[in-house]
Amino acid sequence: MSICKLIDFKTLKDERGSLIALEQGQDIPFEIKRFYYIFNISKGFERGFHAHSNLKQMAIAVSGKCMFLIDNGIKKEEMYLDNPNKGLFIDGLIWREIKEFTEDCVLVVLANDHYKEKDYIRDYKEFIKKVNLYNN
Ligand code: TYD
Repeated sequence: MSICKLIDFKTLKDERGSLIALEQGQDIPFEIKRFYYIFNISKGFERGFHAHSNLKQMAIAVSGKCMFLIDNGIKKEEMYLDNPNKGLFIDGLIWREIKEFTEDCVLVVLANDHYKEKDYIRDYKEFIKKVNLYNN
């Protein structure tokens, strides 16, 4: 089983182009309290390198591509976001590193809580400690 679910969103296509609509409780399995986007990523830079104590997020590359390295403290996986119809649902204690951004990448993230620096775990050793506490 995958660490995080990759969700396929329905694309409404016609001769004018494509549209994707995401609704809370249907496509997004949490209450949306925050929406942020990452763009203009400098060449070669990587982001993330943290986990959250208590946060649900849905990440969507609405333009371009990037790769999420996700890690639950036991195993690691690489998930590619390369289409606006894909959403990566990150729930629970997951370390994430975001890499291989293309220049045109616009990464949208929906979250179920406001920004709280206290919720971040930015130290990998601390993350592993938390995982072990949780599993024992
Ligand atoms: P950070 O979470 O470190 O970015 P990434 O996960 O992409 O590596 O956030 C970068 C800066 O932006 C940091 O100073 C915190 C701030 N920030 C907010 O103020 N609100 C937010 O919703 C987010 C995600 C970050």
